[in-house]
Amino acid sequence: EKYNYGMIGLGVMGRNLLYNIADNGFSVAGFDLDEEKIKELQNNAGPAMKIKGTGSLEDFVSALETPRKIILMVPAGKPVDAVLNNICPLLTKGDIVVDAGNSYFEDTNRRIADLASKNLHFMGMGVSGGEKGARTGPSIMPGGDLEAFRLLKPMLEAIAAKVDNEPCTAYMGKGSAGNYVKMVHNGIEYAIMQLISEAYDLLKKGARLNNDQLYEVFKEWNNGEMNSFLIEITRDIFRQKDSLTDNYLVDQILDKAGAKGTGKWTSEQAMEIGVSIPTIDIAVTSRILSAYKEERIQAAQLYGKKEVTSPEDINSFIREVGEALYSATLISYAQGLALLVKASEEYAFEIPLQDVVKIWRGGCIIRSVVLEKFYSAYTKDPQLSNILLDHDISDLIKDKINALRKIAAFAVSNGIPVLGLQTALGYFDAYTTESLPVNLIQAQRDYFGAHTYQRTDREGTFHTLWQNTNH
Ligand code: 6PG
Repeated sequence: EKYNYGMIGLGVMGRNLLYNIADNGFSVAGFDLDEEKIKELQNNAGPAMKIKGTGSLEDFVSALETPRKIILMVPAGKPVDAVLNNICPLLTKGDIVVDAGNSYFEDTNRRIADLASKNLHFMGMGVSGGEKGARTGPSIMPGGDLEAFRLLKPMLEAIAAKVDNEPCTAYMGKGSAGNYVKMVHNGIEYAIMQLISEAYDLLKKGARLNNDQLYEVFKEWNNGEMNSFLIEITRDIFRQKDSLTDNYLVDQILDKAGAKGTGKWTSEQAMEIGVSIPTIDIAVTSRILSAYKEERIQAAQLYGKKEVTSPEDINSFIREVGEALYSATLISYAQGLALLVKASEEYAFEIPLQDVVKIWRGGCIIRSVVLEKFYSAYTKDPQLSNILLDHDISDLIKDKINALRKIAAFAVSNGIPVLGLQTALGYFDAYTTESLPVNLIQAQRDYFGAHTYQRTDREGTFHTLWQNTNH
C-alpha cells in the first residue's frame, strides 16, 4: 500500500509536522540522508501512526501514491535546490512539491517556473509555530498553484491549529504569496520581540523589578488584553532557573541577538516596493547593533551612563509600560499588514488580508487576542489600506498612545534605549500628521538638482530658479 504524503527533511520541524499529519489519519513516508534522524523518527512514533522512514530517494518516491504530494522541510536556499535537483528526475507529471520552509519568495517564483516546465507543481507554504506548533497545530500559509492547493487542503485543515473550530490555514494568494505572507509574519515577529525586550529593560532598569516581579507583570498582561504567545513565553522565561548556576537563566544569556534573515528580507522588500515599516526595520538593525558587544563595552566606558531616576509611582509606571507596549505592538502589525497590501498589488498576489489575520489568530508566533480585532476590521472593509484607519482600532490606540509618549519620554531622559517604542511612536505621529515638513525637502531638491515639485494650490509640475542670497 502506498503512502498519502511524503516528507523530505526529518529535522525537528519536519519530524513533528510528519507526526502531526500521521496523527490525523494520513500515512506518511519520510526521507532524510541522516540515518540518525530516520531512527529518531521511528523511535518516537505513536503506535497507530502509518509511517515509514527511508534514506533512499528512489524508495521514498516509489512508496508514494500518485499524484505524489511531497513536503520539503529543509533549510532555505541551496538545500532546497539540491533536493529539487535530485528528486525531480524521479517524479512524474502532476506530482506536487510543497516547500514548507522559510524560503525567499523570489526563489519560489523561480522554482515554480522550473517545475512547471517539467509538468510538476511547486508551492511555497509558510508554516509558523515552532516545534510544538508543528506537532500539535501550526498556522499554515499556502499559496500559488490552486490545483495543488485543493488536493492538499483537507490535510492542511486537519493539521492546522484551530480557533473557534476553524482551521488556521487558508489560501494566501497567487505565486509565492505563501512565502511572502510568512516573511512579513516574521518581520512583525521581530518588531514585537524588540518591543517586549524594551519593556523588560524599562521595568528592570526603571522600576527595578526582579525576575519574580517581572514574571508577575507578564502574567497579568497575558491574562488580559495583551494575551499573546510572545507575552506568554516571556512570562515563563522569567521563571526559568539555570542548570549550571543558581541564577535565573535569562540573566546568564549573552546579549547578542541572532537572526536567520527573514526580518532583513521584510525590510529590504519594504524599501524595494516603497512601504514604510520603521519598527520592523529598527528591530532588524537593533539585532545587528547588539552584536557589537565589545565596542559597546568600550563606548559605555568612554561615555558613561546616566543614573536612572526611578518613577515615583511604580504601579502606574508598570501600567503605562504595558499600554506603551500594547500600542506600539498594534502599530507594528499595522506596518506589516500595510506591506502586504502593497505587495499584493505590486506582485498581483491577491492576498486576502482578512484571511491572513484570521489564520494568524492561532498556531503562529505572533498569535494574539488583538488579531480578532484586525479580523473584524478587515471583515468590515477588506480593502482597508492600514488598520490604523479603522475606527475601533483608533479607539484602542487613542486610549493608550499617551502612555507610549510618557514612557518614550522617560526612556529618552534616562538614557534607556527604546528604538522600537520610539520608532512606533514616530511612525504614528508622522502617519497621523496632515502636513509634514517635506515641502522643504522638495524645495531643497528643486534648488540643487532641479528635481521639480508639485504645488498645493494648482496642478502640474514646477521648477524654480532659486535665488542665492549670498552676494
Ligand atoms: C515561526 C518562526 C520561525 C523561526 C524564525 C526565527 O514562525 O515559527 O518565525 O520561522 O523561529 O525563522 O527567525 P530568526 O532566527 O531570524 O530570529
